[in-house]
Amino acid sequence: MSNISPFEFIAQKQAGQAHTPEDIKRFIDDFMCDEIPDYQMSAWLMAVFFKGMTNEETVALTNAMIETGERIEFGNIYASAGDKHSTGGVGDKITLLLAPLVAAAGVAVPTITGRGLGFTGGTLDKLESIPGMRTDLSVQQIVDQIKSFKLAFGAQTSDLVPADKSIYALRDVTSTVRSYPLITASILSKKVTEGIDGIVFDVKCGKGAFMESYDEALKLSNWLVRVASCFKMKVACLITDMNAPLGTSVGNWLEIVESVRALKSEAIEPDIKELTLALGGTLLAVLGECDTPDSGWRKLDTIWSSGAGFKKFVEAVKAQGGDINSFSNMDDINKPKASLTLKADKPGYIFDINSREIGFSSIALGAGRKNVNSVIDSSAGILFHKSVGSKVVLGTPILTLFAESEELCEGIVDRVRKAVRIEDIEPKKKPLIIRAITTEGDYSWDEFRKKKTINIMQKYLHLGQYPVF
Ligand code: URA
Repeated sequence: MSNISPFEFIAQKQAGQAHTPEDIKRFIDDFMCDEIPDYQMSAWLMAVFFKGMTNEETVALTNAMIETGERIEFGNIYASAGDKHSTGGVGDKITLLLAPLVAAAGVAVPTITGRGLGFTGGTLDKLESIPGMRTDLSVQQIVDQIKSFKLAFGAQTSDLVPADKSIYALRDVTSTVRSYPLITASILSKKVTEGIDGIVFDVKCGKGAFMESYDEALKLSNWLVRVASCFKMKVACLITDMNAPLGTSVGNWLEIVESVRALKSEAIEPDIKELTLALGGTLLAVLGECDTPDSGWRKLDTIWSSGAGFKKFVEAVKAQGGDINSFSNMDDINKPKASLTLKADKPGYIFDINSREIGFSSIALGAGRKNVNSVIDSSAGILFHKSVGSKVVLGTPILTLFAESEELCEGIVDRVRKAVRIEDIEPKKKPLIIRAITTEGDYSWDEFRKKKTINIMQKYLHLGQYPVF
């Protein structure tokens, strides 16, 4: 092992040279035991931001980050384990539905979920709006829940990939988040730690996504599938549209209410159903539980109608201290103190709802953090009465804002009004699922959904450790 100094290590990256896996591991380990200060880590992150990393370096960084914490190991207690990861969206509540449905299909789902980031919401914040719900599970608790009923909603803790927590906090404030190798290592370190066999990524693309353009989403998808396959994970990635908010709600408790109603089959929005079944069906196919994404879709649809997904969700919430009685009287929990309904100011069609603006507005209402110390208002958010394509007349209610005070609602209403565009013409319907990416290549959704995916997913698993890309 070389013993280059932190100065030389940073200079190596500034010059665009590749590090050895040993040097990367030492740098991360030294950072975690405070021998590398934040300013040297930040300087290195900035050098990576501009000069990039090879896939071999990215795998080494992912490994080094994983090794700073514990790994979840299940032994031989289940047939297979899997998870879904979204790169973040607005109104994206798919994990709340997909995880219990896939667990009800017999697959272990030890998901480690995250908090809201930027203008996007976080599954962890949504779950914590359920009274009593705990997400800071120990590794043992996650294993116990998986053994008992195959589902756990965990969070990143000081036991699980602590390096990502510290490095992410620095990336956030030094504007070095948007780096493909750093994003890939950050996401995969958490997913590999889960001890899963397979994963489906939902890489969001559009105004309400970190990757706004298709090309950026495609590039990140390729990074994710290829590095995941180096960790012997069966993997596929769907690039999905994130221009309009998903479903009818944005906000923590509002999204729990929408998800519970959907799991109970009381009310399911078409976009939520399509994404849940497409991503869940792909996960079952990737894991070899079903032949094709389409057969996985049908399997999960049957489970959904039977109510087994809702039962799984209730089991996990109960085990994690959540009050399951709150699901019987959802309108009486987390009641917002103030509300304001926005009505159409002209007749026409809702042509566009800018999800990025909706995400920021929801944060301003109290549903997200303005800084690390902010306390979230679980009741805050936005409930949509109409969606893109809806016909409206003058005065039709479009959405309602919820917050702790009328001033908060009034303070943001103009921004929200500008985010909703009404035009005389009906907008063209855009596909929700744009492309499917695997280590083998990329496909249209119509082609991919019929593919016997298990054969192609495993291609890299038996090649060398580091395929070149
Ligand atoms: N989500 C993560 O977990 N890490 C990133 O770097 C970006 C999004």
